[in-house]
Amino acid sequence: MIAIFARSPLDDEGARVEVLSARERDHRLSSTGSASPRHAAHAAQGGRTMEPRIGIDDGRRSTAETGRREISEIVTHVMADTYVLYFQTQSFHWNVRGPHFHALHKMFEEQYDQLAEAVDELAERVRALGALAPTSLGQIASIARIPLDHGAPGARGMVEILLRGHEHLARDTRRAAEIAEESGDGVTHDMLIGRAEEHEKTAWMLRATLDE
Ligand SMILES: [Fe+2]
Repeated sequence: MIAIFARSPLDDEGARVEVLSARERDHRLSSTGSASPRHAAHAAQGGRTMEPRIGIDDGRRSTAETGRREISEIVTHVMADTYVLYFQTQSFHWNVRGPHFHALHKMFEEQYDQLAEAVDELAERVRALGALAPTSLGQIASIARIPLDHGAPGARGMVEILLRGHEHLARDTRRAAEIAEESGDGVTHDMLIGRAEEHEKTAWMLRATLDE
């Protein structure tokens, strides 16, 4: 696992147990000859599926390279943070008040629409890499790194909170893109660079809103 973020799923005790259990199960099943590690992992998820053969090394087979498994974990992290920021933006769209209500209400709507599309794109990339996309809001909340709850601050506070969220994702997506590129996954790299570009642009708009 590559520790590029302040909080990794493997830093979470529950996630660590889950990952270790999966690896132990793989080892146990492969050593008894009852199933291959790949089939065991999928059987544990409730069915048999075909492994992607898309030219990206499987991390479980190589200690030297980051593989599909590690990249999918990184993309899942980005997706979870994007989902949290999506909800936060929509909540602020609902609850914003004050003299700039209309402009902010509309701007937040445009932003959460973009974030919803990004969530879908990221989750589908996780699937293309052969992993399961998040299956519950609890899972998303447990791996997200941006704060989950800000209540209903004033309009300026809302803009500042969203600005921090977009700046966080701009930084994380660029770092994640570098890792994907180093692993030969140009598709994920390009997707994440596109995400970084959009977060930087949205951060600029939010920052401009704060200027006097
Ligand atoms: Fe609305």
